[in-house]
Amino acid sequence: MLLHSLIRYARAYTPSSADLPSFPVYPAAAARQVCATLGRASICGRAIFQVEFALSRGKTSRGRTAVIVGAQWGDEGKGKIVDVLTQTFSVVARYAGGHNAGHTVIINGKKFILQLVPGGILRPECTSVVGNGVVIDPLAFLKEVASLRAAGVKVDGNLFISNRAQVILPYHRMMELGSENAPGRVKIGTTSRGIGPAYEDKMGRRGLRVADLLDIQLLRTHIENACREKNMIAHALFNSEPLDADKMFREYANAAEKIAPFVRDTALLLNRALAEGKSIVFEGAQGTMLDIDHGTYPFVTSSSATSGGAATGTGVPPTSIDTVIGITKAYCTRVGSGPFPSELLDAQGEDLRKRGNEYGAVTGRPRRTGWLDLPLLRYAGMINGISWLVVTKLDVLDHLTEIPVCVGYKVDGKGTDEVPAQACGYENIECVYRNMPGWASPTQDIRTVEDLPKAAREYLAFIEKETGAQVGMISTGPDREQTILVPEFTSELGLKSN
Ligand code: GDP
Ligand code: IMO
Ligand code: MG
Repeated sequence: MLLHSLIRYARAYTPSSADLPSFPVYPAAAARQVCATLGRASICGRAIFQVEFALSRGKTSRGRTAVIVGAQWGDEGKGKIVDVLTQTFSVVARYAGGHNAGHTVIINGKKFILQLVPGGILRPECTSVVGNGVVIDPLAFLKEVASLRAAGVKVDGNLFISNRAQVILPYHRMMELGSENAPGRVKIGTTSRGIGPAYEDKMGRRGLRVADLLDIQLLRTHIENACREKNMIAHALFNSEPLDADKMFREYANAAEKIAPFVRDTALLLNRALAEGKSIVFEGAQGTMLDIDHGTYPFVTSSSATSGGAATGTGVPPTSIDTVIGITKAYCTRVGSGPFPSELLDAQGEDLRKRGNEYGAVTGRPRRTGWLDLPLLRYAGMINGISWLVVTKLDVLDHLTEIPVCVGYKVDGKGTDEVPAQACGYENIECVYRNMPGWASPTQDIRTVEDLPKAAREYLAFIEKETGAQVGMISTGPDREQTILVPEFTSELGLKSN
């Protein structure tokens, strides 16, 4: 009742309320002013926005939301977990990265590797959205769509890409290749997909967005100008061969035509879906330690992989995010260069790689392996606001009788809670390990927490105690079915228990 009165009051308070667009920006702002007078600005502002938007569609509550974020250096198993959540979440929205991601989903033995397309695509009743925070290579997108179609997956009418997402063009790959191999430059060990240079152009305000890709005149001018500039720079800096602007224009104009049916104002689509009571899972790519701000800079990707990116990368406000779910392996991996305090450079590391099949889903590169790093997991918890953890690949540790876990860092012999800001800062870090008892028995076919071996339950409880987050799901194999759901998590997220 109070909200209804406030909305009415806000409307009356706004001078031109009769001419307002259906999106209730002005009434909400006015109502916020009214509430501020009452000293309840944020609560009322939020409630009015949600209720107003929802009321106009005959609903009184918005759908629930959860962000899936990688808590390590990527490849934690996000793809599998998003797939499990889509049993009840109706929309999946990717918010960062590009086709540098490789998300593996295995359903009844059938393997899908998704790069740009969100995991929701594998359930026909789900809507999949590629948000504005993503950089899209149109040719890679069309290739992925074609292979999904060939596999019998529905992609028409349920897959949308943002008109505000940035476009990756061939000169981005040219610049990346040149810079990765240039003498004197730090080699990041990128995926060579043009991701970094595309984000550079975005922030430099000279990028091409999906809406511009569809504007053929603009596309031609953009490609001509950009090619002239990039060819000169790449030739001067890296002695690269020039790219042909005409050929590029023809290829991308053709791609634009094919992409057009997928393009939407996805911020509007997502906010409407929420107002209609639909639930959204925000699918992160990469991981916390690859985040442009919070990761092991400069050995990071170029986007906001952490949970904050879910808001900026989709246009859904941070106030509409209910839960952040961090995904961590039961151990640790990383692809590419950069610090990795708990890395194993010996036969044990090789053994983890083999048992965990730790080879890049997209590039096939061997992943570096190491023990679980709790200081980093605590850091990921803090940066992302993780309330639930999902522990994947528990089965990879099944053979061990003892499992070392990094429980703290020491610098110059003194314990520290700080994660270094500089990559070279990691060189001074000494990991403090604690040996946890292993369970030395198979877990792949176990479906409830109670049935897990005692030592495995203790391992998970130790992670909970050390991170302050609750373990809501445990993955003991790559297949959708090889999942253990914790009842509290199941009921909070509205999932079906197994
Ligand atoms: P993402 O990028 O976070 O989605 O992860 P990737 O798909 O790149 O890498 C995770 C790999 O581990 C994939 O090959 C998955 O099929 C596999 N995987 C996921 N969960 C489990 C698990 O619990 N056990 C095992 N053995 N493999 C898993
Ligand atoms: P998913 O979503 C693991 C790494 C690259 C490189 C660095 C920068 O599957 O977890 P980029 O091409 O992004 O400029 O490379 O980031 N990297 C990933 N590592 N999983 C990923 O994605 C990654 N995406 C990028 O290996 O070290
Ligand atoms: Mg991956």
